[in-house]
Amino acid sequence: MNREQQYIETKAYKQFEEFCDACKKYKYIGICHGLPGVGKTQAARHYADWDRLYPAFCEFDRKYEVTDELTAELAKEKHTIFITAPTLGVNQITKDIKKIGYRITYMAREAFYEWDDGVDLIIIDEVDRLKMAHLEQIRDLYDRQNVPLILIGMPGIEKRLSRYPQLYSRIGFAHEYKKMDKIEAEHILHYKWEELGLGLQLADFSNYEAMNLILKITNGNFRLIHRLFTQIERVMEINQLQEISVDVVETARDSLVIG
Ligand SMILES: Nc1ncnc2c1ncn2[C@@H]1O[C@H](COP(=O)(O)OP(=O)(O)O)[C@@H](O)[C@H]1O
Ligand SMILES: [Mg+2]
Repeated sequence: MNREQQYIETKAYKQFEEFCDACKKYKYIGICHGLPGVGKTQAARHYADWDRLYPAFCEFDRKYEVTDELTAELAKEKHTIFITAPTLGVNQITKDIKKIGYRITYMAREAFYEWDDGVDLIIIDEVDRLKMAHLEQIRDLYDRQNVPLILIGMPGIEKRLSRYPQLYSRIGFAHEYKKMDKIEAEHILHYKWEELGLGLQLADFSNYEAMNLILKITNGNFRLIHRLFTQIERVMEINQLQEISVDVVETARDSLVIG
């Protein structure tokens, strides 16, 4: 997420948060699945506070001391690890997790204990890419440490994983990350209008029409909304327009490749 974009705690995020808390509480493996672009990756990063924690961890890696306020603050509690599934090397995934886990634990305790002492949850994104041998590693990690785990993937991932009974028998929850409903998407559009320095006036029919067309094109998909708005901004700039009209939206849509 870039700096200008603000994370919005949507209904889907709140449900995701509850799902993570439940996996933590019961020390389960959970599966989260959903269509591309609905916001799974951003939700996991937000839950893990990864945009803050990860740079702190890298900084610590360079200096090897706990000096600033942030690390002191981070040391107070356990943290969630967010990682994107590596496709190369069967052992890479456990190596990556342990490496981050050690740093987090060390930052917290100022000494090395077990790698998972400072870790309360591991979230692995893009699990679709993993092969049987990787999944076997993950199961082994879970069995040894009993750290709760969430696997994120595309729809159908639950079915795929059910073919590995070793792993599947340990899965406690499956959760679908849903796209936004119309009311929520409409709420998001108010933000987007503001980002462009405009106000969305639903009493203005031209605004209303444009908004409905955007809702139809993007169908509750966060990534599509962002991409469409990037184009809308471009179209407005090129044509020196001050309003988002249906024409602008249609032109913007035509320059998008919607898969
Ligand atoms: N809650 C949110 N608030 C603001 N923007 C979001 C939010 N969720 C997703 N996005 C935007 O939508 C895009 C796609 O989200 P992402 O998490 O990558 O989807 P997925 O992992 O489900 O394919 C992100 O790059 C981000 O710009
Ligand atoms: Mg993703």
